[in-house]
Amino acid sequence: MPNDLVIAIDGPSASGKSTVSHLVARRLGVVYVDSGALYRGLTWKFLREDVDPSQADRVLAVLTMSQWEFFVSGGTVHFLVDGEDPWEQLRSAEVREKVADVAAIPEVRQFVCNHLRGLRRFGSLVMEGRDIGSVVFPESAFKYYLDADPEERARRRYREVAGREEDVRFEEIKESLLQRDQKDSTRPTAPLQIPLGAKVINTTGMSVEQVVDLIVRDVRSRIGSKQFSGQ
Ligand code: DC
Repeated sequence: MPNDLVIAIDGPSASGKSTVSHLVARRLGVVYVDSGALYRGLTWKFLREDVDPSQADRVLAVLTMSQWEFFVSGGTVHFLVDGEDPWEQLRSAEVREKVADVAAIPEVRQFVCNHLRGLRRFGSLVMEGRDIGSVVFPESAFKYYLDADPEERARRRYREVAGREEDVRFEEIKESLLQRDQKDSTRPTAPLQIPLGAKVINTTGMSVEQVVDLIVRDVRSRIGSKQFSGQ
């Protein structure tokens, strides 16, 4: 496996991206990056500092002043923000509610994008997100876009959240997922879209293993036949 490839996996919430990307990275023996974690990390920091996403000057102050330190643990990129590890709180209800607003701020996107590009120092990467193949690494030759029917995505997200929190309602989860889709795909800066040249995989009715296999085989066969360029 070359050590300078970026495998970009994009798609809407609960399309199976995280599980699939993690496993693809493990099978290929490369580092996994969840780009959404950086948006969640910033949201966590804003909540911590009592900054509302609409307060442009305070948002910029956090972007300029906070110190981010990236490291690889268990094959996954993690980070500390001003020396603190927010990992356990990135999936809290408070962060979940605010993160799409934070991710819509152009300066936030530039900040995250710069950090994501810097992660190439860790070698080949599998990076999942919404704009990895379209904006962060448009030159990548390995782009995949995972999708699934909204009902199926809501069921997946419901199972995931119900395992962690009590008093979860399916209809609420579905509604919040659809709202987030709407925000992510209509924001003016880097909206969720199918990147040019991406292979679209509709995962409805597919097992995780089937999707992982599809991607790993495609990557390996193209590396084997050197059918890629531009990285
Ligand atoms: O994948 P996730 O649910 O952790 O993403 C959290 C939020 O961040 C979600 O609103 C989409 C946004 N996001 C983004 O805009 N661009 C990315 N590359 C990754 C996530």
